[in-house]
Amino acid sequence: MVIPQSFDTFRRACSLFATGVTVATVRAIDGTPHGLTVNSFTSVSLDPPLILICIDHDASVISCFLESSHFAVNVLGQEQRELSMRFATRGMDRFDGIAWTPGVSGAPLIPEALAHFECRKTNTIEAGDHTIFIGQVEEMGVREGRPLLFFASSYAALK
Ligand SMILES: Cc1cc2nc3c(=O)[nH]c(=O)nc-3n(C[C@H](O)[C@H](O)[C@H](O)COP(=O)(O)O)c2cc1C
Repeated sequence: MVIPQSFDTFRRACSLFATGVTVATVRAIDGTPHGLTVNSFTSVSLDPPLILICIDHDASVISCFLESSHFAVNVLGQEQRELSMRFATRGMDRFDGIAWTPGVSGAPLIPEALAHFECRKTNTIEAGDHTIFIGQVEEMGVREGRPLLFFASSYAALK
């Protein structure tokens, strides 16, 4: 069956794949923390432990991810919807008032995240209008809680 292709249909179809929500973080060369909301997070390999995220070439923070040897991925809990919106908003200091701590690699860890992965960047792949960042997980943390979900362009929670 041939399905008519369109940008809107592609976006809508992708949005029907329910995901969790993460904030990917990095330190700039001058030490300042940067990050953005990311739901393209995927685990890739168990041995070695690899994950990936995809970042839009237009994202203001992509240069920090390209320049840094390490980044972190913070998996948000269902009570962190505001944080997700903040880290997807342009033109504000996203870390203002956030009690982040540096991980072993220096990448910012967000308090109360359900899980965090501290990664050494092992590979980047240009793919269309995004770059895929593959990271080897060097440190991890987990806590109890329920996840923030994203489905059909809206936030959701487990019932
Ligand atoms: C739930 C959600 C998931 C997102 N996932 C991604 C993603 O995987 N990759 C990406 O580049 N942008 C993603 N974004 C968009 C970025 O967070 C947002 O465009 C970016 O932070 C814009 O600001 P900037 O260009 O100032 O960095 C997502 C946004 C939301 C709300």
